[in-house]
Amino acid sequence: MAKEKGVKELEDLPGVGPTTAEKLKQLGYDNIEKIATASPHELVEVAGMKLEAAKQAVDAAKQATTLEYKTASEVNDKRMALGKIKTGAKSLDDLLGGGVEANAITEAYGKFASGKTQFGFQLSVNVQKPVESGGLGGKTLFIDTEGTFRPDRIEQMAKAEGLDPKHALEGILVVRATTTDQQILAVERADKLVREENIKLIVVDSLMSLFRSEFIGRGALNERQGKLNMHIHKLQKLADTFDLAVYITNQVMDNPAILFGDPTTPVGGNIVAHAATTRLYMRKSKEDKRIVRLVDSPNLPEGEAVIKITPEGISD
Ligand code: GTP
Ligand code: MG
Repeated sequence: MAKEKGVKELEDLPGVGPTTAEKLKQLGYDNIEKIATASPHELVEVAGMKLEAAKQAVDAAKQATTLEYKTASEVNDKRMALGKIKTGAKSLDDLLGGGVEANAITEAYGKFASGKTQFGFQLSVNVQKPVESGGLGGKTLFIDTEGTFRPDRIEQMAKAEGLDPKHALEGILVVRATTTDQQILAVERADKLVREENIKLIVVDSLMSLFRSEFIGRGALNERQGKLNMHIHKLQKLADTFDLAVYITNQVMDNPAILFGDPTTPVGGNIVAHAATTRLYMRKSKEDKRIVRLVDSPNLPEGEAVIKITPEGISD
């Protein structure tokens, strides 16, 4: 799409020399459109560019990018046609405008035992149901970075959904990643698997734990965010290309800058915040109750749903 003024490659942008271009490409900013939609501060953060140079590059990239205009009704048709995975709880489906969306990244963050992993299990089962029953008729790629995948929970949930438990287990491809390199590779190399196995959901549980344990201290932050950025770009690309849903779980910290209200903040910084289309904050309530708050969505109002985690899975 990029043309005009001879700007075709990253190297053609003002403020971008060959070394920076190479770095940007490695970070996943591999074409002019990606620069055009980046913020100058993001480029400063991930690629160590000077702010002035980053501004020039983004401006030039914007000018060089031609846009394809669609009517709102075309956009609406496309959105309505997108699949959604029902969660098992009506109140949560309503909060999400029908369920967990394909072509998007949905993030759940919250403290331990808030239900992030259980939600991932439930989606891994539900996605296998046909579209008319609230699934996407496909399999799950489950990237387990914490060693908390539990086949017996899948069996329980599948039975409760009226699915054959054996079949449901066959429908989930699990990768146990113990390093960020393995986690990244599991996604980098997923294209073929996604196509051949008809993967309709990718779960990364959890996104940040390995990144946090491997990259320690301020000195490692740039490198960490750069790698993370590439990883998330790839997830986004898979979601777009294959019309699949991505569900990531995220850890939290207390943000001391928040003086009033709940200081619980997801980790991962701006890169994760921008990447997640929908952010859900999960909190433990009494017994098996969990409160799910929709924090950030482009088209849905903020709100909360109360769900239960039972032996059968997620319900109202
Ligand atoms: P971390 O990964 O530690 O950050 O937590 P998480 O948010 O992933 O929590 P997870 O989804 O693993 O939720 C664990 C909670 O789910 C447990 O404390 C139980 O309350 C509940 N749970 C797990 N399995 C079952 C089950 O078989 N029956 C019921 N009723 N509850 C369960
Ligand atoms: Mg968990």
